[in-house]
Amino acid sequence: MHAPLLQLQHINAHYGPIHVLKDLSLEVGAGEIVCLLGGNACGKSTTLKTILGLVTPSSGTIVFAGEPITGWSSSERIRRGIAVVPENRRLFGPLTVHENLLMGAYLRHDRRAIDEDLARIYARFPRLSERAGQPAQTLSGGEQQMLAVGRALMSRPKLLLLDEPSMGLAPQLVEQSFALLQMLSRQGVAVLVVEQNARVALQIAQRGYVLQTGRVVLEGAAAGLVANDQLRRAYLSRGSVIRFSPLGHGRAWRGHGRQSGERR
Ligand SMILES: Nc1ncnc2c1ncn2[C@@H]1O[C@H](COP(=O)(O)OP(=O)(O)OP(=O)(O)O)[C@@H](O)[C@H]1O
Ligand SMILES: [Mg+2]
Repeated sequence: MHAPLLQLQHINAHYGPIHVLKDLSLEVGAGEIVCLLGGNACGKSTTLKTILGLVTPSSGTIVFAGEPITGWSSSERIRRGIAVVPENRRLFGPLTVHENLLMGAYLRHDRRAIDEDLARIYARFPRLSERAGQPAQTLSGGEQQMLAVGRALMSRPKLLLLDEPSMGLAPQLVEQSFALLQMLSRQGVAVLVVEQNARVALQIAQRGYVLQTGRVVLEGAAAGLVANDQLRRAYLSRGSVIRFSPLGHGRAWRGHGRQSGERR
């Protein structure tokens, strides 16, 4: 088996005296879609911030593409191939769509390749191309989401982190946004997506982790999680239809909905 692209090994993180992440271990394979589920305040955003280097863990190791990156700055991590679509998108509102996209490439100096990537993103999102000169704050919610993803792609990531991309989007746009993640994964970009919308996230993810007060309480193949009674009760509303399409395209699923405490 290939080594995973990202590994969090026994991460603990604190905000002052508050112990937020507790012995958290997780993995994302190259080109894999993994979802991180859990209720409010359980540490999902903190996990992404720790991967990005915005929160320094008190113990544990982060390995990315075979290298320990635990002490690296955020910009070193971005350069190495980690990008984020943050909570609420965090666009530069007064700047234009075009300027926002360029901000995604601020650590790059390969002007010609940047132009090629811009052209690719405009081709993929014609709506952004039509609105290239428009301030980002005047875009609709769905367009802002496209722009946030486009901006993240401008750093040519190997791993894309997304913090609640479905937030504030109509169901149809949520589907579109998740279909885009599937397409990126097919092109080899690994995706770690934080979601409260477990039903949708588990449709596209190969694997998932469930956090509760900073601890992984459940992990495994998405299909196993969908069928898990504990998860159903907690996150999947009663009677809701889970449309699960087998989009794993042959990638090996590791684990089968292991319960916490079980060892590999
Ligand atoms: N900068 C900070 N300083 C102090 N405490 C913080 C800070 N950021 C987050 N916390 C606390 O850490 C805990 C985990 O927060 P986090 O944002 O990671 O949760 P979350 O799972 O993303 O929640 P949500 O689903 O509401 O976005 C919360 O109790 C939060 O109040
Ligand atoms: Mg959060």
